[in-house]
Amino acid sequence: MGCVGILTGGGDCPGLNAVIGAVVRKLNKGGVSVLGILDGWKGLIDGSVQELCLANTSEISPLGGTIIGTSRTNPYKNPEQSIPQIKQNLRKYCMDSIIVVGGDDTIGVASRLYDEEKIKVVAIPKTIDNDISATDFTFGFDTAVNTAMEAIDRVRTTAESHHRVIVVEVMGRHAGWIATYAGLAGSADVILVPEIEIDMDKVCEMLKQSRQRSSYHDYNMVVVSEGAVFKKGAYITQTEKTDEFGNVMLGGIADILCNEIEKRTGFETRKVVLGYLLRGGSPTASDRVLGIRYGIKAAELILSEQFGKMVALRGLDIIAVDIREGVQVLKTVDMNLYRAAEEFFKP
Ligand code: F6P
Repeated sequence: MGCVGILTGGGDCPGLNAVIGAVVRKLNKGGVSVLGILDGWKGLIDGSVQELCLANTSEISPLGGTIIGTSRTNPYKNPEQSIPQIKQNLRKYCMDSIIVVGGDDTIGVASRLYDEEKIKVVAIPKTIDNDISATDFTFGFDTAVNTAMEAIDRVRTTAESHHRVIVVEVMGRHAGWIATYAGLAGSADVILVPEIEIDMDKVCEMLKQSRQRSSYHDYNMVVVSEGAVFKKGAYITQTEKTDEFGNVMLGGIADILCNEIEKRTGFETRKVVLGYLLRGGSPTASDRVLGIRYGIKAAELILSEQFGKMVALRGLDIIAVDIREGVQVLKTVDMNLYRAAEEFFKP
């Protein structure tokens, strides 16, 4: 048997190093060596690899980011050139199979390479956005939610002291998981998610009513997901640019909300955009454990030659699903969960 490659693609998230450490441990124990492919698909196209072993991967679980780097390189942007190079590098480094740790874009590429090129892949779902279908949770999400919740808790005291509205913008792309969890955990007065169009009249009404309900509550916390949209409006983006997968660069909705709320309610309003803070730092225990369990399961699938799979969390179990299931649909917020959150802010 040759060796196994591992790459991390797309936006980094806490828990990637826990996965890498677990994969190396399990495969090395099974007598298989592991090559880290540097900077996602870019490393496989360019042939940039690094040997991974216990010596350079043990005790890396607490580290944020990814020790093998990442990128948003899309091999299908220029497939005539990239796909033959990928195949050539797999042969050159004797990589029989690869473990692909990524979100929907990265796993989408892995799924195509498996289907169209018969490259042996196993995928592990990661993203702070938690928007991958076929799994209950992706690792990285829990850390992002806790960071956002802590930020909301901190900002609350300043909102309270100044009797202001503070709008907290969180990442999450086109799914409102981070906003819903962090907003619920942080007792936000309003949570705005991409799944439900923003109605400014209702938002302002809810803010006013929450102040009327209690004389102590003369401030407000609003949590908004970067991908939320106004009625009949488009996404709010930072630039016209898109990445190699065609994703727009979301961000800036807090600014617009802030101005609108102040104009319509007369309440002094400020905003904070959490952005990349949510992707950084040390993973929570929950993300480390999930990452390690995913890593071990992916290595087991490789050792038992079950390719074209994605590992997934179902309830308390780690299972393997067909890789296509992971990228079929975007997993948006469960409306039952959102309704539970609404109990706390909807009149
Ligand atoms: O997918 C993770 C994520 O952090 C999204 O929440 C966000 O919209 C996007 O990545 C930002 O991407 P980039 O790192 O390319 O700016």
